[in-house]
Amino acid sequence: MHSPESSSSISIRDAQPADAAAVASIYNETIRMRDATMVLEPVSIDQMAERIATLDDRESLLVLEEDARVQGWGIVKFYSDRPGYNRACETSLFLRRSEIGRGLGSRLQEALLEAARQAEFHHVLVRIWAANASSIAMHAKFGFTIVGTQNEVGFVDGNWVDVTIMQCLLD
Ligand SMILES: CC(C)(COP(=O)(O)OP(=O)(O)OC[C@H]1O[C@@H](n2cnc3c(N)ncnc32)[C@H](O)[C@@H]1OP(=O)(O)O)[C@@H](O)C(=O)NCCC(=O)NCCS
Repeated sequence: MHSPESSSSISIRDAQPADAAAVASIYNETIRMRDATMVLEPVSIDQMAERIATLDDRESLLVLEEDARVQGWGIVKFYSDRPGYNRACETSLFLRRSEIGRGLGSRLQEALLEAARQAEFHHVLVRIWAANASSIAMHAKFGFTIVGTQNEVGFVDGNWVDVTIMQCLLD
C-alpha cells in the first residue's frame, strides 16, 4: 500500500460520457473479483456512457482522477423510484484494485455524501458484501451504521452471499 504522493494532483468531478471506458474498466475489475457487486457480467463502455448520460438531475456519478488518470468512481442514485422514498439514496464506489488502501476511497466517499446533501437526500443506504471488511470499516468511519445483514440473499457462482445494509442520515 502507498499513500497519494504529496506532489500528486487529485480531483473529483462529475463523469462525462468520455469517462465511460475508465469507469467500465474499473467496474469490470470488481465484477471479476466477485467480492463487491451482484453484477456478474462485464459491462460495456456503451452501457456506462448511457448510464452517465441518463442520470437524473439529483443523481451523481463522480470520478476521482489522480494526475489526470481516473482511479475510481462512485454513484449517488435513487434508492427507489416510489415517490415516498424521494429523500433516500443509495451509494456505491469502486477503485482500481492497485489503488485501494491509499485514502482515495475516503476522498470519493466525502464527495458522494456532499453530492447527496446538495441533492437534498436525507437517508443514504449502502449494500456491502458482509465479508468486505474494508468497505464496512470505511463507511463506519463516515458515520454509517449497520442496519442488519441479509443472510444468503446473493447467490454467486454457486455460493451464497450475505449482504450487510448500512445507513447514514444527513442533516
Ligand atoms: C472499499 C473502498 C472503496 C475503500 O477505499 P480505500 O481507498 O481502500 O479506503 P481508505 O484508504 O480511504 O480507508 C478508509 C478507512 O477504511 C478502513 N479500512 C481500509 N482498508 C481496511 C482494511 N483492509 N481493513 C479494515 N479497515 C480498513 C480504515 O478505517 C480506513 O480509515 P483510516 O485509514 O483513516 O483508518 C476500496 O477499497 C475499493 O474500491 N474496494 C473494492 C470495491 C469495493 O469493495 N467497493 C465497495 C462496494 S460497497
